[in-house]
Amino acid sequence: MNLFEVYKIALDMLKNKTEAVILIEEIFGFNRIDISLNYNFEINENSKKVFFNYLNRIKYGEPIQYVLGKTFFLGLELKVGPGVFIPRPETELLVEYIFKNFKEDFSGNIIDLCSGSGAIAIYLKKYLKNAKIWAIEKSPEAFDYLVANTKTNNVKIKYILGNIFEKFSEFNNNKFDIIISNPPYIKTGDIEKLDKNVKFEPYIALDGGKDGLEFYRNILKFWLSKLKKNGIIIFELGIGQHIEVKKMFNNYEFKNTTILKDFSNIERIIIAKQ
Ligand SMILES: C[S@@+](CC[C@H](N)C(=O)[O-])C[C@H]1O[C@@H](n2cnc3c(N)ncnc32)[C@H](O)[C@@H]1O
Repeated sequence: MNLFEVYKIALDMLKNKTEAVILIEEIFGFNRIDISLNYNFEINENSKKVFFNYLNRIKYGEPIQYVLGKTFFLGLELKVGPGVFIPRPETELLVEYIFKNFKEDFSGNIIDLCSGSGAIAIYLKKYLKNAKIWAIEKSPEAFDYLVANTKTNNVKIKYILGNIFEKFSEFNNNKFDIIISNPPYIKTGDIEKLDKNVKFEPYIALDGGKDGLEFYRNILKFWLSKLKKNGIIIFELGIGQHIEVKKMFNNYEFKNTTILKDFSNIERIIIAKQ
């Protein structure tokens, strides 16, 4: 069997050229351009087995990131797998907002609530080397990925395995300049309707309660007293949640809220200052 044949099988089975190309590159080491130059390359038995195993898993809905055990977040490689949420491109916008608005020598306190794989916290620490960054995650499986990702990316953040709605003695004497979160925000009743591959991701990462807004409401209730006087809160939002979340901030007398749209023109991020 040669490279052309396996590439064609991948295209036919996945109906997704990007995934087919990623799979070929990962297993056989040929990138998009090299594939056509090496159509006659003979595939060895071992790689062929791996190829069909991966291909079947992806075909049956498992996210390609789980199958390959990794993903990229703004170019940063992160380990992912069953039990941890796969960071999305929309979430990169939160981090980019911080890059645009804080200087590299910023040395304040930042906390990433519901940190998952650690994508936000780890990337921020790479850029803001002097900042003190905490990350809290409740799921032990996700937390293991968070810890592993800080190591492979060689950053030191303070990570905590725990529920963000419990009291943490670590913070008795700490307040934050930035509270950032991409929390679970899917309405409980909508989870069943999600695409098959999203349902491979942990339920705890998706479930935002009956109206999808439980985390925004409770984060404000539990964490506002931990925000410094001129601090900011940044949330990622689900589709159509900006109006209600803005109201919540208004009720807490935040005078300045900014909403940013994503690449699909959806109101995706809210930034609030008191
Ligand atoms: C939508 S995922 C986002 C993960 C990560 N921030 C990202 O953007 O990729 C939400 C995360 O919140 C975690 N989580 C859910 N409830 C939590 C709680 N009460 N305390 C801490 N983490 C929680 C989930 O395990 C999951 O990792």
